[in-house]
Amino acid sequence: MRTRVFSVVSVLLSIAVLLVSCKFGAAESNNVLEEFQNNFDIMWAEDNFKTSEDGKTWFLSLDKETGCGFLTKQRYRFGWFSMKLKLVGGDSAGVVTAYYMCSDKDAAPERDELDFEFLGNRTGEPYVIQTNVYKTGVGNREMRHSLWFDPTEDFHTYSILWNSHQIVFFVDRVPMRVYKNNDKPNDFFPNEKPMYLFSSIWNADDWATRGGLEKTDWKKAPFVSTYKDFKSDGCEWKDPYPECVSTTTEKWWDQYDSWHLTDSQKEDFAWVERNLVVYDYCKDTKRFPELPEECSLSPWD
Ligand SMILES: *[C@@H]1O[C@H](CO)[C@@H](O)[C@H](O)[C@H]1NC(C)=O
Repeated sequence: MRTRVFSVVSVLLSIAVLLVSCKFGAAESNNVLEEFQNNFDIMWAEDNFKTSEDGKTWFLSLDKETGCGFLTKQRYRFGWFSMKLKLVGGDSAGVVTAYYMCSDKDAAPERDELDFEFLGNRTGEPYVIQTNVYKTGVGNREMRHSLWFDPTEDFHTYSILWNSHQIVFFVDRVPMRVYKNNDKPNDFFPNEKPMYLFSSIWNADDWATRGGLEKTDWKKAPFVSTYKDFKSDGCEWKDPYPECVSTTTEKWWDQYDSWHLTDSQKEDFAWVERNLVVYDYCKDTKRFPELPEECSLSPWD
């Protein structure tokens, strides 16, 4: 009798659990592209790419021979792109994990690109996150930020909002960098070419950590970065681009509210500006005696 009651209870419980997980499962799976093989291709070094058994978590590794990278099968123009990353822990000086959008599959001279780069460090020293924006092959728009958490301990969400008015780099929904357009044709705002989303891990000990002073310690290899929950809520490009032209305001990311930071985002952004900026090319008058045009645009507008 006891076991009977027990089993009835446990059946009821499992049904409840099932119902709940279906519900959340359904909500979560909306736009979450979990299956690697349907949505991504490996760029190089297949052997350095692994997934968890359920396929939801992906691992990229760097060893002395090679790094590794993947990209989306689709290109997108405008929208919200987001992924959870957990970075190489321990001694990771010289190792760079990049998470970026780019119009081309290689370093094409005319490419547009939006970058997040995570620069590894010696054990106990903080990671720095570098962002950059390229238009027709020209970058040199670096910003560097420190983070308010250790990105090697847990997954955190790194996202890009992209429309024809602004590009915003977010960490856990906190706007870290705001890159504005003006309303004239210009050479600094990438808004024409659709982009793939990429991630890769590679050795950059010629420049990354303390300007290249700290070298990669290959005794610690392989270095592994972990990924999950890629979400794209953007316009998937289909030649000849019927929908991705932002003349309609049908999509949320093309609407007025997404052209500027919201009030609460402004508060977060003010905090970032006060506390986390390590380097801003727009303040580097040694490097740019005449500051680039986009530096005069206010992120607060
Ligand atoms: C690594 O740690 C050093 C010392 O704390 C710090 O100056 C540097 O900005 C950190 N990051 C990089 C990428 O060099």
